[in-house]
Amino acid sequence: MDKRLDQNIQVLEGEFPQWLVRATGVTKAFGEGHTKIPVLKGVDLEVARGEVLLLVGPSGSGKTTLLSVIAGILDADDGDVTILGETIRDFSPAEKTRFRRDHLGFIFQQYHLLPTLTAAENAAVPLLIRGVSKQEAVARAEEVLRTVGMGGRLAALPTKLSGGEQQRVAIARALVGEPQLLLCDEPTASLDAETGHRIVGQIRENGKKPDRAVIIVTHDSRIFEFGDRIVHMDDGQVHQIQQGPEAFN
Ligand SMILES: Nc1ncnc2c1ncn2[C@@H]1O[C@H](COP(=O)(O)OP(=O)(O)OP(=O)(O)O)[C@@H](O)[C@H]1O
Ligand SMILES: [Mg+2]
Repeated sequence: MDKRLDQNIQVLEGEFPQWLVRATGVTKAFGEGHTKIPVLKGVDLEVARGEVLLLVGPSGSGKTTLLSVIAGILDADDGDVTILGETIRDFSPAEKTRFRRDHLGFIFQQYHLLPTLTAAENAAVPLLIRGVSKQEAVARAEEVLRTVGMGGRLAALPTKLSGGEQQRVAIARALVGEPQLLLCDEPTASLDAETGHRIVGQIRENGKKPDRAVIIVTHDSRIFEFGDRIVHMDDGQVHQIQQGPEAFN
């Protein structure tokens, strides 16, 4: 092929890669000196555009740490994370915050709801920080809360909600901003089987768009069917990648 054309194609592929997330050689340790514990030991992972990737592995294997590094909440010690063509390490703290606000949704394992805000206000936060008016943000949050079965608890404070209800508020908060990359840490841990199944279906539907992707950390084998690929993590490394049901269609 004409060399100039070939170079242009490489540039184009660089600008529009097939993957939405790429982690290469990511390492992370906690602590200092001889109490230092390596938690991520050189993780390589790519998530394609339009992909729903499930991340499974034993407790303590580094799944939450990996999600936090991908989200830019924790800094990797070494290696790179690229999302939508942007290398997160190159960002200043303010740029990271802005990038998260504009492109990322995160369902935290511990929910992290704000205790003084109602369910509807909590779910509205991603829109409020983007500058959407309170009235519109809360109205949109209420709509999403209804879709996760929380329409009857819109004005409740988190302390008045059960674990599963808090988890659904956290899910609504992650979905409301229609993030390009949705990171979900054990999103069904507090939900009954039927609710969990329905909600992960909703998460999948939201993420199955060409310019989006979803990573779901889970122990729950009942939701494995929602993954395009299942990635096994063990002792800080990605060991095995298994094609999900879609690969066989
Ligand atoms: N802030 C921290 N300081 C020190 N050690 C930490 C910290 N966060 C996590 N670790 C340690 O890192 C290891 C991996 O933790 P991580 O939370 O990523 O595991 P996980 O795979 O998400 O586990 P689980 O399935 O139980 O949620 C654990 O041994 C944990 O004790
Ligand atoms: Mg975890």
